[in-house]
Amino acid sequence: MNVSTFKIANKLITGEGATDQLFNEVQRLNIKNPLIVTDKILKEVGVVEKIEDKLNCLTFDVWDGVKPEPEVHLVEECTSVFREGKHDGLIAIGGGSAIDIAKGVSGFAGFDGKIEELFGTDIVPEKGAPVIAIPTTAGTGSEVTNISILSDTEAQLKKGIVSDYILPDVAIVAPEMTLTMPRSVTAASGIDALVHAIEAYISVNASPITDALALGAIKLIATNLPKAFSNPNNVKARENMATGSLMAGMAFGNAGVAAVHALAYPLGGRFHIAHGVSNALLLPYVMEWNKISCVERFRDIAEALGENVSHLSDIEAADRSVESMRRLCEAVNIPKGIRHFNVPEDAIASMAEDASKIERLLKNNPRIFTVEEIEKIYRAAY
Ligand SMILES: NC(=O)c1ccc[n+]([C@@H]2O[C@H](COP(=O)([O-])OP(=O)(O)OC[C@H]3O[C@@H](n4cnc5c(N)ncnc54)[C@H](O)[C@@H]3O)[C@@H](O)[C@H]2O)c1
Ligand SMILES: [Fe+2]
Repeated sequence: MNVSTFKIANKLITGEGATDQLFNEVQRLNIKNPLIVTDKILKEVGVVEKIEDKLNCLTFDVWDGVKPEPEVHLVEECTSVFREGKHDGLIAIGGGSAIDIAKGVSGFAGFDGKIEELFGTDIVPEKGAPVIAIPTTAGTGSEVTNISILSDTEAQLKKGIVSDYILPDVAIVAPEMTLTMPRSVTAASGIDALVHAIEAYISVNASPITDALALGAIKLIATNLPKAFSNPNNVKARENMATGSLMAGMAFGNAGVAAVHALAYPLGGRFHIAHGVSNALLLPYVMEWNKISCVERFRDIAEALGENVSHLSDIEAADRSVESMRRLCEAVNIPKGIRHFNVPEDAIASMAEDASKIERLLKNNPRIFTVEEIEKIYRAAY
């Protein structure tokens, strides 16, 4: 067996009412003056207030400047507020965008250079202020991973700061935080979580530990995403989605994600398509290409998605996994076709060039793609 490491947030607190533990955790981490990192929508729907109430009148500030698919300058802005307010800890309340900004600030606040210099793996020089992550979507798993994904405005690409120093200190995953998520965000973030689990399961770096988490996550998400989508107040489905997304985060945070994410990045970076949607647009086409490289793994995925494949050959079962994902994306109203997102067809060749350079993710993929093959996948998904 190959050597593999497994790292996640230092502590996970999960289940309805988990946010009641927030104050204890703030004290345990010796945070005296936290900065809450969130956005205006989450303030409006009352999610932020619920958390403020748990802080027992501790001194804190709220920075509500988070935007979806955050650009690098937002980390710089939040870092200025963090430094000026002499804050000593970060509480992220939001989806991947808020959590990634808070992790970015933790890595950047003590760094003497430009934030772009931190893009890449293991460049953050030391552990910064502690981060408590409270996800309000069930999708990214950012509450347990060592990655902060930011849009590099100049390069028009999404890039990652990858460092164990930015692993959150505590992840508080409470399903009630996700109840106000709009349908479209429930669908997009839920499919993102499913893609994390599928890509972790077929990754060349998968281990028995990440396999168990990935298959468990696929089962939970496939069963509960349609339920949470059809009835946003179904707390049990929300709870299972939160757990599924957390498990998928633990799986991909160690096994990595692969070609779906690599091909999705140019769509997010250049055309600002929501991360989960860009993944969903490409998923069935990339699965189609990947399936012959590890057909028995795709059989397992089909089973975890709820397909009865006992009477099928491996390749037939693998086909079922692709069909099943197509059906699920359709059931949760994910639009089909990149063409519907104002992406001009003549952008495909350069998108393929850009995607082919995302070696950090492509190296995890079970099949090696040439630029020409990537271009074919974009054209099929167009
Ligand atoms: N760091 C990682 O490990 C990792 C992994 C996957 C994706 N990401 C990144 O995360 C980002 C996407 O995050 P996301 O999918 O969680 O969405 P998001 O954080 O961008 O939020 C999307 C929208 O939903 C709203 N929203 C979120 N929760 C809500 C709630 N409970 N009630 C009402 N509105 C709510 C937000 O205000 C926002 O407008 C992308 O930038 C992506 O690249 C990071
Ligand atoms: Fe993702």
